[in-house]
Amino acid sequence: MSAPTAAVGRGQPRLEGRQKVTGTARYAVEHPVDGLVYGWAVQADVAKARIVRVDDAAALAEPGVLAVLSYANAPRLAPVESEELLLLQRPRVHYRGEIVALVVAETLEAAREGALLVRIDYDTEPHSSVLTERHPSLYKPDKVNPNFPTDTFVGDFDAGYEAAEVRLDQTYRTPAYHNNPMEPHASTAQWQQGRLLVHDSSQGSTDVRDTLAGLFELSAGSVRVTAEHVGGGFGSKGTPRCTPVLAAMAARHVDRPVRLALTRQQLFGPIGYRTPIIQRVRLGADADGRLAAICHDAISQSSTTTEFAEQTAVLTRGLYAAPHRRTTHRLARLDVPTPSWMRAPGECPGSFALESAMDELAVACGIDPIELRIRNDTDRHPEEDLPFSSRNLVACLRDGARRFGWADRDPTPAVRRQGRWLVGTGMAGATYPARTPGASARARAHPDGTYQVDIDATDIGTGARTALWQVATEALGVPGDRVRIGIGDSDLPRAYVAGGSTGTAGWSLAVDKACRSLRRQLQEQYAAAVPAEGLTVSTDTAAEVAALTQVARYAFGAHFAQVRVDVDSGEVRVGRMLGVFATGRVVNPSTARSQLIGGMTMGLSMALHEEGLLDHRFGDWVNRDLATYHVSACADVERIEAYWVAEEDDRVNPLGIKGLGEIGIVGSAAAVANAVYHATGVRFRTLPIQLDKLL
Ligand code: MOS
Repeated sequence: MSAPTAAVGRGQPRLEGRQKVTGTARYAVEHPVDGLVYGWAVQADVAKARIVRVDDAAALAEPGVLAVLSYANAPRLAPVESEELLLLQRPRVHYRGEIVALVVAETLEAAREGALLVRIDYDTEPHSSVLTERHPSLYKPDKVNPNFPTDTFVGDFDAGYEAAEVRLDQTYRTPAYHNNPMEPHASTAQWQQGRLLVHDSSQGSTDVRDTLAGLFELSAGSVRVTAEHVGGGFGSKGTPRCTPVLAAMAARHVDRPVRLALTRQQLFGPIGYRTPIIQRVRLGADADGRLAAICHDAISQSSTTTEFAEQTAVLTRGLYAAPHRRTTHRLARLDVPTPSWMRAPGECPGSFALESAMDELAVACGIDPIELRIRNDTDRHPEEDLPFSSRNLVACLRDGARRFGWADRDPTPAVRRQGRWLVGTGMAGATYPARTPGASARARAHPDGTYQVDIDATDIGTGARTALWQVATEALGVPGDRVRIGIGDSDLPRAYVAGGSTGTAGWSLAVDKACRSLRRQLQEQYAAAVPAEGLTVSTDTAAEVAALTQVARYAFGAHFAQVRVDVDSGEVRVGRMLGVFATGRVVNPSTARSQLIGGMTMGLSMALHEEGLLDHRFGDWVNRDLATYHVSACADVERIEAYWVAEEDDRVNPLGIKGLGEIGIVGSAAAVANAVYHATGVRFRTLPIQLDKLL
């Protein structure tokens, strides 16, 4: 037998890469279905209202239009936890852009035309859609996403801060950010003898299956959701969304399979976004920069239908040592769509505030910003009061400084001139939880010497399928071309969504266990000869992960950026970004690097470009396409590098894997903003940093 060809730790191209670039990979609305009809969503053009009347006569007169669904005639849904999924049930509008009707037609064109002809009369009410520090609706949520305490207190912040030699008190503001995956939210739904089959663009088809079963009052076995290929999500497909629900309702109503894809413009609202956030950070330190007191107060927004509480200040609970600490979260309930997950919800915007404040503290103390972070390192999580399974923040900082060439940096701002450009460098620290959720998996040996490994994991473009194949191949100890991986189907063994950077750790553990158990059974009972009927092993790791040692599990990182700012126009160009990360064992260096530089670029995008601009008169975003909402691409950074330090961590989980899908964006925006300060001497506490603000 030849050696395994896909060992863990070796760079591997994506298994489905060829299918994707040749257009044969099937996405949610590319499955061929007989008798297919099309849906088109109609959105409210007022922010808060009662719907008085839906006039569908003109739409129904349009050739090809089969139905107009609204609160008046749509199939009834059973209550579920997320109220925003109770679509077309009540004559209420909670935000501008809410889907209030769905036109179903024989062709996409007829559905779109019909949607333009639907007339809705509203009884409007005054709305409130702008987040402020003193919004009258501000309240303290019971917990923050996904399950963290809202506020935490260690020591006595006020006393510690009062007594500190150096005090910093600053407020940082970030706007709404829209996830903008390449593939919009899209679903194809069909009812087959009472069973519901949905092809959905989702980060987790098991959750979508369970939610649809709840809404339509079906057993879980009566619903199947697939998500074989998904064109990105960045969190916006991490929870069940409107498209599978609407497509299933419409399919039931017209008794035909229904395909529904949102347009790019329709993604700005109904599918979630990163909330605008106001963050006040107070740091108290001695003259040497040793932190005595840290306070991080975050205010974000939620909707009037479903609560989403961003865990903005949670990273401040564990990144640096300090005897006195307070973190709080408050929410305003506005007449806006419900915010949701967007790549590193919490840690990403939280790190912009904390890591900007740390840079300001370094300046105030006259200390190098890397040295400041090293002085405040800790080997125990300050709030969980547990040792870290591994904590290599300092190793990342030192390795990054060496690679980037930080040593001879002159901290003086606004003194480096190259022609018409002012040049500066900045850095930031990063951390992200390294969770390992339990999962189930199944491995099957066939008599022909091939293996089938199945798990309802999702590959949203990250390379998850390939990583699991590497793990399975190594565990089975056979050549990679004999191993097939099945994912993206709720009929497969249950697994947690592709979210929270948990996939590679949690799914791999289940896959590894199933494959090793299968291999052992083959060797012990069948002398490695597969029985004629094949052999299947199913495993679940829920008990195993629940029994893992009590330690604090986190990945760490360090970001470095070099920018130049045009002295006349204020244009900011990013010449270089460099990140070093400590993320345990890296399964596939090729796709890991892609995830890290993708996250770093998304942080650059946040620092300089992305901004949901809300028109308060209408309560809606003005920029709602990729021409007016600018998302950075690889061309926006001239040189980008991602590295990782060797980290063997057998306490984080038995495979030593920490997820790395999100840590790349954590701290990245702060590194860019800190570099802009170093270049210009202008401190930006409100993102994005745009040229008009630099002049
Ligand atoms: Mo990610 S924002 O946890 O899907």
